[in-house]
Amino acid sequence: MRKYNVAVVGATGAVGEEMLRVMQEFDFPVAKVVPMASARSAGGHVTYNGEEIVVKELTETIFEEEEIDIALFSAGGSVSAHFAPFAAEAGAVVIDNTSHFRMDPEVPLVVPEVNPEDIAR
Ligand SMILES: NC(=O)c1ccc[n+]([C@@H]2O[C@H](COP(=O)([O-])OP(=O)(O)OC[C@H]3O[C@@H](n4cnc5c(N)ncnc54)[C@H](OP(=O)(O)O)[C@@H]3O)[C@@H](O)[C@H]2O)c1
Repeated sequence: MRKYNVAVVGATGAVGEEMLRVMQEFDFPVAKVVPMASARSAGGHVTYNGEEIVVKELTETIFEEEEIDIALFSAGGSVSAHFAPFAAEAGAVVIDNTSHFRMDPEVPLVVPEVNPEDIAR
């Protein structure tokens, strides 16, 4: 089975922690998890599958440097607005949990139980 490099943007926050917890619960096929946050939390740690992983600072180039396949964003709308395009440009599928792109006709609003196929757009 293919495994993915997954970025969790806002990994030190309440929602980011929950995203990490759910990924572990469902045994999501990760090659590596890259937790990201602001410079304030960079260098700290989060735990994933019993392993301490260093939190990296969110930058415009980190998605390319880390060869991210999937980027989960939950660090606020303005963070998504600025950084999600860099993740997409680097080839990642961006799943944004903020409301920033909600009314953007170019960005599908995906509810997994309703229209999972739209993520391909
Ligand atoms: N769809 C939904 O149902 C739903 C529900 C709740 C929240 N949300 C979205 O999720 C976001 C986060 O909510 P939360 O409750 O997890 O907030 P939170 O606990 O305050 O966590 C915010 C996270 O974002 C990071 N962050 C903030 N500014 C940043 C920046 N400039 N660059 C990089 N990382 C930054 C923080 O990192 P530091 O540790 O470095 O500060 C932290 O990891 C909300 O703003 C909202 O957009 C969506």
